[in-house]
Amino acid sequence: MKPKNLLLSAGAVTLLVGCGSLGGSAGFPSAEQAVASSWQNMQPGWEKRLVQDDTQKICSAARDKPSKADAERVEKMNAAMKVVYPASGTLIGDWKRGEAIAQSGYGLRVGDNNPNQKPGGNCYACHQMTKQELSYGTLGPGLNQYGKLRGNSEAIVKYTYDKIYNSHAFSACSNMPRFGLNGILQPEQIADLVGLLMDPKSPVNQ
Ligand code: HEC
Repeated sequence: MKPKNLLLSAGAVTLLVGCGSLGGSAGFPSAEQAVASSWQNMQPGWEKRLVQDDTQKICSAARDKPSKADAERVEKMNAAMKVVYPASGTLIGDWKRGEAIAQSGYGLRVGDNNPNQKPGGNCYACHQMTKQELSYGTLGPGLNQYGKLRGNSEAIVKYTYDKIYNSHAFSACSNMPRFGLNGILQPEQIADLVGLLMDPKSPVNQ
């Protein structure tokens, strides 16, 4: 072996030994521990989010492309989960509050630990809702004119509430968070968002 190669292989050995000592030997945290301990300064209850439920397990294993049978199973499973409606009994809330909730990305991020501030829906991150908002994502379908196009029958209002509450009951492995089911938004907030989508006076329907 030429001296140069000798040097190279010595380097490789050092590298291997180095990696070996990083790979979870005593004193080092496992990957799960490292992730868990890096999540600090969070709202209470955040730990629950590290544990996958059956829906997430099926969707992760299928990389969000479940077989037809699995998709049906996930949707059925989620449709059977309880939906909590607002105590007021009305599913169409105040669109102005709804717009503020749709705009707010507060909550569930590191440092979002103000007990007096409720998490928002961050809906604009994935949906165009009003014409005047220029900054929006397109992962989800545009929701501009939502109420105008669909009318406000009881069935549509309930579908809209239930969809925001638990998107996976309608679309297995959806990218849309299960806002109500996971306690991100409270029932009254979801009703305000339904107001934003349905109310003829809402900027969504202009
Ligand atoms: C991370 C992306 C994402 C976020 C955030 C998100 N959605 Fe969605 N949404 C989607 C996708 C994708 C769909 C298409 C259907 C599906 O996959 O669930 C959808 C579908 C919908 C639908 C059904 C539309 C139809 O044509 O029937 C409604 C209503 C809706 N979203 C409302 C909201 C509201 C209100 C918020 C905020 C609280 C929100 N979404 C936040 C991704 C998102």
